[in-house]
Amino acid sequence: MATHASDSALSRHLDSRFHVGAERVAPTPYQPNYPIEESYINAQHASYASAPMKGALIDLGIPGWLRVEDALKLYELAYFSAGDVLELGTHQGLSTSILARALIDAGHGHRLVTIDMEQVYIDKARAELAARQLDGDVEFLCGDAGPFLDQFMAEGRTFGFAFIDHSHAYGPVLKASQSLGQLLSPGSFALYHDYVDRRNTMRCDVGESGKEYGVVAGAQDGLATDLFEFFGCYGCTGLFYRR
Ligand SMILES: C[S@@+](CC[C@H](N)C(=O)[O-])C[C@H]1O[C@@H](n2cnc3c(N)ncnc32)[C@H](O)[C@@H]1O
Repeated sequence: MATHASDSALSRHLDSRFHVGAERVAPTPYQPNYPIEESYINAQHASYASAPMKGALIDLGIPGWLRVEDALKLYELAYFSAGDVLELGTHQGLSTSILARALIDAGHGHRLVTIDMEQVYIDKARAELAARQLDGDVEFLCGDAGPFLDQFMAEGRTFGFAFIDHSHAYGPVLKASQSLGQLLSPGSFALYHDYVDRRNTMRCDVGESGKEYGVVAGAQDGLATDLFEFFGCYGCTGLFYRR
């Protein structure tokens, strides 16, 4: 069973910080935050490093847009999560399958809650996870993430890790980031996908657009500075620690 690390045992990679407007966007390698004796937690974790690829993206037989570094970081953070895991943006279940696998392997009995606004994707993801026998402790929720976040806060529900991958628009990312201070337990992490991406801009009115992303701005403006600190970038993700 996975054991939890104290704050001082965690590694930060502050040099990997992504700056909006940077001329060159360097690929950010996977590095663990939790103390791992070998390079990988276990054989399952290591398997993502040598998985088949489709171009720059990992190919686990489920459509999606994850780099190997993203997959490795998702598995690590779910494996060491001290509570339930929250995923915004299920799509067809690629990241969901990695998170669910890590929770099963860790053996803590934590659940995964995953939200997508499209029923067709929820149905596909549920089928993909069922086919891999990963769906046992997964709660699939269909709808806009915002109202679900409000509902969880009203219920006093908390999580040990959140993966934010539902929207590239500023508003939904801002809403998620503002909610995470209450939803994440101290000592947990928030991981943003598409954080390391040259399409990010600091403009605050970016909607859903393939040309401009509001992920960095939404995280920066929404995460309370007294509660969250930047921990590093890995693949195309940005990681923040909830003190
Ligand atoms: C980039 S995909 C998620 C990919 C998935 N995490 C993976 O790695 O396989 C984004 C998903 O978020 C969903 N989405 C977009 N805006 C949303 C919102 N406001 N609330 C809930 N889901 C949303 C979309 O329907 C889409 O399936």
